[in-house]
Amino acid sequence: MDAITQAKKAAGEKAAALVQPGMLVGLGTGSTAYWAIEKIGEMVKGGLNIRAVATSLASEKQARELGIPITSFSEIQQLDIDIDGADEVSHDLQIIKGGGGALLREKIVAMASRRKVIVADERKYVKTLGKFPLPIEIIPFGWELVFRAVQSLQGAPTLRTKDDKPYITDNGNYILDCAFGAIENPEQLHHQLKAITGVVETGLFINMQPTVIIAYENGDVKTI
Ligand code: A5P
Repeated sequence: MDAITQAKKAAGEKAAALVQPGMLVGLGTGSTAYWAIEKIGEMVKGGLNIRAVATSLASEKQARELGIPITSFSEIQQLDIDIDGADEVSHDLQIIKGGGGALLREKIVAMASRRKVIVADERKYVKTLGKFPLPIEIIPFGWELVFRAVQSLQGAPTLRTKDDKPYITDNGNYILDCAFGAIENPEQLHHQLKAITGVVETGLFINMQPTVIIAYENGDVKTI
């Protein structure tokens, strides 16, 4: 296992240790949250009694295979803890998510959770957001109009593709990856983008007061 994978595993496992018996748990998406889910699966096999909501079909499949009981918002109101990855976390704990295309469900789950835990390796921890192009989830109909509206906000959008076709999210939508350069005011940008008809959600996770677990290649793990 290379040093970065080792760091992702360390961050994921540290977050999993925060899960207590009886909790309702949000399961994130991506290669770091993967390790948290694996660890929680081990804990469940060892007798831990929890229920979980997954932020993507992929994470739900992983969780089911590990025997983690899955629930949904038709049965529960709120989660106790949500453990998820990030594409960038700024020093003032604003976040970009959606590199894996799961940002909408991730935000729904995060908003429904009392405690939000972000797991990331050191490369994601940045002074200012924006080096990573901001993903936004948009409705397929008329997507070109949203594309142009993002351009007029000085973002350089790219329609995400897979096998030369538009990438389709778990919710049947498209993703625009938008290069804004340094994002000095994430809150303002989030609201400007949400005001465009056709934008379902942005990958800016703002003012969520997360617990952030950063794992370093040298083996250190810091909770911020
Ligand atoms: C999924 O859409 C994303 O928000 C992920 O949580 C994020 O991209 C982090 O993924 P990795 O841990 O694989 O980098």
